[in-house]
Amino acid sequence: MAKITLHPGRCKGTINKNLFGHFSEHLGRCIYQGIFVGKDSPIPNVNGMRKDVVDALRNIKAPVLRWPGGCFADEYHWEDGIGPQEARKRMVNTHWGGVVEDNSFGTHEFLELCSQIGCEPYINANVGSGTIREMSEWVEYINSDGDSTVVKRRWENGRKDAWNVKFWGVGNENWGCGGNMRPEYYADEYRRYQTYCRNYGNNKLYRIACGPNVDDYRWTEVLMRNAGHYMDALTLHYYTVTEEWADKGSATEFTKEQYYKTLYKSAYMDELITKHLQIMDRYDPNHRVGLIVDEWGTWHNVEPGTNPGFLYQQNTMRDALVAAITFNIFAGHCDRVVMANIAQTVNVLQSVILTEGDQMVLTPTYHVFDLYKAHQNAKAVDCHVEAENVGVDKWQLPQITAAASENDGVITLTCANISECVHAHISVSTIGCAPGAVVGRILAGKPHDFNDFGDTKLQLLPFSDFKIENDQLKINLPPCCVAELTISKE
Ligand code: AHR
Repeated sequence: MAKITLHPGRCKGTINKNLFGHFSEHLGRCIYQGIFVGKDSPIPNVNGMRKDVVDALRNIKAPVLRWPGGCFADEYHWEDGIGPQEARKRMVNTHWGGVVEDNSFGTHEFLELCSQIGCEPYINANVGSGTIREMSEWVEYINSDGDSTVVKRRWENGRKDAWNVKFWGVGNENWGCGGNMRPEYYADEYRRYQTYCRNYGNNKLYRIACGPNVDDYRWTEVLMRNAGHYMDALTLHYYTVTEEWADKGSATEFTKEQYYKTLYKSAYMDELITKHLQIMDRYDPNHRVGLIVDEWGTWHNVEPGTNPGFLYQQNTMRDALVAAITFNIFAGHCDRVVMANIAQTVNVLQSVILTEGDQMVLTPTYHVFDLYKAHQNAKAVDCHVEAENVGVDKWQLPQITAAASENDGVITLTCANISECVHAHISVSTIGCAPGAVVGRILAGKPHDFNDFGDTKLQLLPFSDFKIENDQLKINLPPCCVAELTISKE
């Protein structure tokens, strides 16, 4: 029997809604076809945005969306994507698949998309191949109400009011595709670029510096030492790759060992966050600077027959468990991790949505976002799990992973049974109160199960395999599942 102990009295802080954020890049079929089809498309759309996709993102309360990249961000020149469509510059997206980028989705379209979804925009600007003036004028174009030539262009392009975008990323992966910089050099560049990103009116920018790749602790050290005072947050990128980068492994065909290896590797996020925060704490003891994991998720081999530069992969229950493990880790660090953005929203890597023509599939990962949405901006409840390890060889991890929060006196417990074959009997004690009414939802399947076009195997179902005994909630979870239990206090 596994045990979960909830301490509603011990709170680490609020679980920032932005931990359940998204990332959409000009990559493969993420923006084009996946989100934006243009006003004249036969696919139902509002101002060119797919209605089905926008509705699905609204349903999971997508709180924030990062754009335009990724590596594309440091090749993107915003002025190419404004003004009359027919006059927009064409370029070849050399980073992703060598396809023509016609810039039909630009600043106005992105901000229209965010307004349709009801989420905050997070714009990642170009440091690698851009200029300070370009970044500075992008901020001005979007946020200023002043009587300037730059703002006048916005009016001429049909937008009177400033958008007041708060989240600005200053470069992406500048240790790699964003310019192959050394941390000392990037730290200096960051200081210069952010200087000319001005606050307009009451809109105070939230300046985000490019952080480390995985375990590059030196990058964090140098950035915090040389530029920590000039940033509001530092980013971290970590992808779960089952095997080697050259041959990462299939998204849908994997052995039992690879199943556990993937889950084990996703749990490495905890160590990464802990160690990067320890470094940040030395330079920022008052915790002013937040950590943002603005790229995370599984990275498998592309689906056979698809463009290798499009990073299109299917999404199984294994990916859903990666999402649950990762969210629970974020919740455990909610006092310092302020945002996270899964890579990526539609048709790329660990997507929540897949599209094919006018069809749309909600992946198992999508349903995990749905199960976790009650945690958004809720008070984190200390959640202690005691469970046996499961796994194969050295890929062992606790059978149960969980997180809890409280809102308006109602506790939400999200928990996953990662065993691929064994039920989990869990006894939940809540210190200081007894459970009253409980309502459950579950996503359950077999590790290899996925949703395909015209074949929906996985969806959220009501869950009621629990009972209250001696003030304890006894839950019986099937193998390979993620569940949400909403517990009212008696
Ligand atoms: O998400 C795909 C790519 O992964 C992004 O463009 C880049 O930032 C990262 O290397």
